[in-house]
Amino acid sequence: MQSSKNIEIAPSILAADFSRLGEQIEAVERGGASILHFDVMDGHFVPNITVGLPVLKSLASTTRLPIDAHLMITEPGRYATQFVEAGASMVSVHVEADPHLHRTLTSIKSAGAQAGVVLNPATPVSAIEEALLFADYVLVMSVNPGFGGQKFIRESVAKVRRIRQLIQEQQLAVRIEIDGGIDRSNIETVVEAGVEIIVAGSAIFGAADAENAVKELRNATIQWV
Ligand code: DX5
Ligand code: ZN
Repeated sequence: MQSSKNIEIAPSILAADFSRLGEQIEAVERGGASILHFDVMDGHFVPNITVGLPVLKSLASTTRLPIDAHLMITEPGRYATQFVEAGASMVSVHVEADPHLHRTLTSIKSAGAQAGVVLNPATPVSAIEEALLFADYVLVMSVNPGFGGQKFIRESVAKVRRIRQLIQEQQLAVRIEIDGGIDRSNIETVVEAGVEIIVAGSAIFGAADAENAVKELRNATIQWV
C-alpha cells in the first residue's frame, strides 16, 4: 500500500444529460466529487465537437467545484488562458497539439490556474519528460480522445507507473490524472499505479444514480487515501 494520497474523483460532464446539467452536477457534488472535468473538442484535433467558453462560463457561476478543462483542440496555446478567464481552475493541453508547451503551460499558470499536459495512448512518456518541469499535472489518456464510453486501454497502467517514477526521481510536485474507460473494475489498479485524479464519464452519468456512482468509486479507492 502506498502512503496517504488525496484521490479526487472528476466526473466528466460529456456523459451527462445536458438538459439537466445543473441537477446532475449537484448529484455528483453530493456524492463527493471534488473536480468537474470539462471536455472541449474542436472537430480537428479529435473527430468530435463538444462545448466551449460560454458553457464553461455559466457552469463556473453555478458550481463551487473547480473545473478542469481538457482541451482537445489544435493550437491550444491560442485559447488556454481564455478558459482560465472563463472560470477553469485547471487547464490541460495535449503534447501532440502544441509545439510550444513551455509557453502555454506557463501562461495557464500566470493566469491563475493549474496547468496540465496530456498524452494520447500511443504517445511515449519521453514526449513529456521535459514538460513535467513546467506542469502541475499530467493527464494520461487511457482511451483515444474524442468520445466517452470507450474501452480502457490496459497498457496505460504501465505508462502511469513510468510517469510516477519520473516524477519521484525528480522530486516534482506533479499529480497524475487518468481519463477514459475508468470504472469500478479498474479504478483500484490505476490508483495503485500512481493516479491521484480519476476522470469518469459513463461510469458516473451512465449509472442510474450518479451520486451513488461517485460514492462507489470513492469507496473503491478508500484504502489508498
Ligand atoms: C474522451 C474524454 C473523456 C471522456 C471519458 O475523449 O476526454 O473525458 O468523457 O468518458 P468515459 O469515462 O466514459 O470513458
Ligand atoms: Zn477528458
